[in-house]
Amino acid sequence: MRAAITPQYGPAAVLQVTQVPDPIVGENEVLVQVHASPVTAGDRRVRAADFPGASAAVGRLMMGVLRPRNPIQGTMFAGEVVAVGSKVSRYSAGDQVFGSADHGAYAELLVRPEDSTMATLPKGFDYAQAAAVPYGAITAMYFLQTLAEVQPGESVLLLGAAGGVGRYAIQVAKLLGAKVTAVCSPKDFELVQELGADAVLDYNEDFRKQSERFDVVFDLADVSGFGDCKEVLSPKGRYLTLYISLAVLAHVAWTSMGSGPSAKFGVALGDREQLERLATWMSEGRIRPVMAQAYPLLEISAAHALAEQRPKGEVMVLPILAA
Ligand SMILES: NC(=O)c1ccc[n+]([C@@H]2O[C@H](COP(=O)([O-])OP(=O)(O)OC[C@H]3O[C@@H](n4cnc5c(N)ncnc54)[C@H](OP(=O)(O)O)[C@@H]3O)[C@@H](O)[C@H]2O)c1
Repeated sequence: MRAAITPQYGPAAVLQVTQVPDPIVGENEVLVQVHASPVTAGDRRVRAADFPGASAAVGRLMMGVLRPRNPIQGTMFAGEVVAVGSKVSRYSAGDQVFGSADHGAYAELLVRPEDSTMATLPKGFDYAQAAAVPYGAITAMYFLQTLAEVQPGESVLLLGAAGGVGRYAIQVAKLLGAKVTAVCSPKDFELVQELGADAVLDYNEDFRKQSERFDVVFDLADVSGFGDCKEVLSPKGRYLTLYISLAVLAHVAWTSMGSGPSAKFGVALGDREQLERLATWMSEGRIRPVMAQAYPLLEISAAHALAEQRPKGEVMVLPILAA
């Protein structure tokens, strides 16, 4: 099969499309012909070994010290099941699926365990649209639903609301019944309002000057800390961040013992049940993707380069167009 490999850490140009052996399907696994995979911020960071702050050493230990341990990147996918292992009961050849993987989606073929984070393609979605959603939406569901337990009527402030996670955090927070204030560039005001934001704030101004208190402040852009957000949090407010640091870990540990505002951090791994809940929302038209541009696998370097400029939507790689 053809796959895009990352032979070493570096800029978008390091990605190379080459022939590699087809993966072998185990008895509990399915073989997916990958039609679409997005370029996420996580993919860009791994390609460039751009592991921020406290994750610098851990990032390389996990992903490969000198070069990526798994040279085929790509963590989200949608495609068609083309073969199944002898013990697989959930899927058959011809099924259309989407989901997430640790790596391997920048390829024509991908093997996944049948019980992994994978579900049937939602009604009304093509492959690219479906593959675009889980990265941001699963992250938003984990932080807002699981960690912060957002309740109907609560207020949520999103710092970085127009980014790859933010675009879905707005939609998930609205689905949970929250009032959403989106902090972003004025160029993105229209987009975040279309996605459901109730109020918008220019990120060139200091959001801490708001007189309003928020039940949840979710930092998606690494522009705040728990200490400087306490003044805008309600008495039981939760501060969430996508970015690990020693200060964040200290605040998480310290505030877990008190009864006031708390800090929370985690890593959104996702599972099958969560993806199935998301697929239901998608097929009901309650979560929608924001698409930017799609590239065939052969042009994956251009796709990564465009994603680095942070266009208003998901940049997709389409492996099946590589032939
Ligand atoms: N912990 C986890 O489980 C987890 C899961 C998923 C992702 N992540 C990490 O989370 C990070 C964010 O991901 P992403 O896909 O959302 O990134 P992204 O698409 O690059 O979005 C970042 C957003 O932040 C905005 N921004 C920049 N400066 C700002 C400011 N001062 N105030 C408010 N917003 C500002 C950017 O706007 P402009 O474009 O206008 O600058 C952009 O819209 C990545 O580093 C990713 O690796 C962590």
